Amino acid sequence: MGDAYILGIESSCDETAAAVVRSGEQLISNVVASQIATHQAYGGVVPELASREHLRAIVPVVRQALTEAKHTYNSVDAIAVTQGPGLAGALLVGISYAKALAFSLDKPLIAVNHLEGHIHAVLLEERQKGNHELQFPVLALVVSGGHTHLYLASQNQDSWTYENIGHTRDDAAGEAFDKVAKLLGLGYPGGPIIDRLSLHGDAQAVKFPPAQIKHRDRRGRQDNRAVDPGDERPRFDFSYSGIKTAILRYVEQNQMQGAVEARRTALAKIPKPKFEDYLANCEKRTLDLVASFQRAIVEDLVRKTLAAAEAHSVATLFVTGGVAANAELRQTFERDGALQGLPVFFPSRKLSTDNAAMIAAAAYPKFLAKDFAAMDFSAEAGMVLK
Ligand code: KG4
Ligand code: ZN
Repeated sequence: MGDAYILGIESSCDETAAAVVRSGEQLISNVVASQIATHQAYGGVVPELASREHLRAIVPVVRQALTEAKHTYNSVDAIAVTQGPGLAGALLVGISYAKALAFSLDKPLIAVNHLEGHIHAVLLEERQKGNHELQFPVLALVVSGGHTHLYLASQNQDSWTYENIGHTRDDAAGEAFDKVAKLLGLGYPGGPIIDRLSLHGDAQAVKFPPAQIKHRDRRGRQDNRAVDPGDERPRFDFSYSGIKTAILRYVEQNQMQGAVEARRTALAKIPKPKFEDYLANCEKRTLDLVASFQRAIVEDLVRKTLAAAEAHSVATLFVTGGVAANAELRQTFERDGALQGLPVFFPSRKLSTDNAAMIAAAAYPKFLAKDFAAMDFSAEAGMVLK
């Protein structure tokens, strides 16, 4: 089989993205149009606005990805698109455009799970570095604005399968970063700004009680299979809504509301606030609070993930998704993973957050297996990874 150039399209949330990837191992072009400016005023993603922005961006973004790759609509071998999970209206923009392209160009169409994409971002970059030897079993932590999932990943020829062994019971880790940033008047998205502000605070200053997961998971397993009462294998679930409430209480108890409002107003007056503007508007107590919050989230993610790795005797760990861009998370995983003799792989920061290169990379094994999508497939907002 010669080289296969796959055009990937991603529109599941607030980034319109297109990329060309060669044979799942070389990134040829990668274009991401962010909608942050549109949603910032609302402190989070507004689904209707996201769909509208995708409609505006999709054609130029795809065209730019092809141009930068020195490809044409005709010269790519297949078109891959995110099917879910994500915002239904947003997904449909990418899917409708991908279908129209595949139909008019007579190219195969490949539907990709966004979460599988995040996992394949790691594989793409490792292959690009020349690392083709991967030790199984692989455990992947997908940690983003919508997800905090642990998957055991296996490969059988061109087919990848995933078993979910842990997920968040409430908020995703990235969602906690975003909500805490919002309640502290730090804008949206919260992860990147808290990441940098934390370096200026004392992470020991505020103690948070460890997340309590008291009840059995009533939602059942993430893959919708009924909970098997005989299945006594430990699960490694997360919970991040408690820490958000603890921060809200801390702000109230320490009468920080005035400072939060003053910061919100000051930052709103700056058209494009820079990091220095955020820093200048944060007093020590806020810096200590965000640093302590980040430390608590990082320690919980690392401790549970490494416990899961040990329980399942995995040989390799992947950490991927938007929150994997976090500097403290990377350092802590590397340090503690090494203590456990576990190699940990991350995507570059650019491929940690949403992008279409990961969609084109995840599509490659499906391309080889001729696992093509029917023209009538639709968006699956709650799609699970299996
Ligand atoms: O993967 P992603 O781009 O979109 C989803 O699939 O959700 O992840 C976005 C999430 C947001 O919650 C954002 O705040 C978080 O990733 N994030 C970070 C960092 N960069 C992005 N969280 C912590 N530290 C960062 N440096
Ligand atoms: Zn994502």
